[in-house]
Amino acid sequence: MHKILVTGGLGFIGSHTVVELQNEGFEVFIIDDLSNSTIDVLDKITAITHKKPSFFNIDLKDKIAVTTFFNEHKIDGVIHFAASKAVGESVEKPLKYYENNIDSLIHVLQQMKVRKVNNFIFSSSCTVYGQADELPITENAPIKPAESPYGNTKQIGEEIIKDTTKISELKAIALRYFNPIGAHKSAKIGELPIGIPQNLIPYVTQTAVGIRKELSVFGSDYPTPDGTAIRDYIHVVDLAKAHIVAMQRLLKNNQKKSFEVFNIGTGKGNSVLEIIESFEKVTGKKLNYRLVDRREGDITAAYADTTYANKELGWKAKLSLDEALLSAWKWQKTLK
Ligand code: UD1
Repeated sequence: MHKILVTGGLGFIGSHTVVELQNEGFEVFIIDDLSNSTIDVLDKITAITHKKPSFFNIDLKDKIAVTTFFNEHKIDGVIHFAASKAVGESVEKPLKYYENNIDSLIHVLQQMKVRKVNNFIFSSSCTVYGQADELPITENAPIKPAESPYGNTKQIGEEIIKDTTKISELKAIALRYFNPIGAHKSAKIGELPIGIPQNLIPYVTQTAVGIRKELSVFGSDYPTPDGTAIRDYIHVVDLAKAHIVAMQRLLKNNQKKSFEVFNIGTGKGNSVLEIIESFEKVTGKKLNYRLVDRREGDITAAYADTTYANKELGWKAKLSLDEALLSAWKWQKTLK
């Protein structure tokens, strides 16, 4: 049984990935500092899979703690989610973001090198493409200057990993996620935004449940069919499964290059108004919303060309937008 370390394994995408790993028979070790997650997620994962993952409350900025962990546990592969991810906060606190996201990554890679743990999956983001010149976006689209320190940590992270694969036995895959949404069908785990949600779907579900008065639709003058911005919304369970096939590719030595990049999305773009319409349809709830100005830093449209992931990983998003929105709604109702 392969032993996989999942950093940030109690977070939104991390927790769903832990469930899928356990379902596939992997033994899972979670490192999480609970900075943007809660410990009860561990029990929820256990309730879903009937297997308790090993948990370590470690801050990856603590190099000694990371060293001790790798000294004491023999790991076959690492899936690295642990990072701060609030775009706005990263603009306010760039040093916090660079320290947290970059130091942590370096500490993990250093110990992987020492311990000859050679299989690494990195959580990257479609934010590296900025506003791409061509849609859908392939992995060959140029990387645009980052709009935020958060986005920059993803670009720099990929470069650090790529450089490390050149001088060591490390094999790595960066998964560039489009917009992850939804929750596990059990409604035991999901997205847990702290304070006012920045992302669209948590804002939608909190508005529908009455925590927020009204959803602001940021921008209705985009050059899109209905004037609102377009994104590729992918069910978090489909996204989680991409990590499993990527890890299996590394463990079986099936990769073509020591550093590979895959877009992980559905391949389909939806506007903000289409999201509202679908949400209202599947939940039967009327959503209170208002069209307001664009949000600074937002792009017009992004959706993935997933041909490469489909072909090379044998992976394809299977769950629909309606299923994703319904699962997010079921999850929200457990929180209220
Ligand atoms: C955002 C981040 C991105 C990050 C991703 C993680 C920014 C600029 N980008 O992407 O770097 O990787 O989250 O999931 O923050 N919207 C509204 N009203 C709201 C919230 C959002 O209309 O209250 C709109 C946005 O303008 C956008 C769409 O909904 O068009 C999706 O927004 P969001 O969920 O924040 O994701 P991104 O901005 O695509």
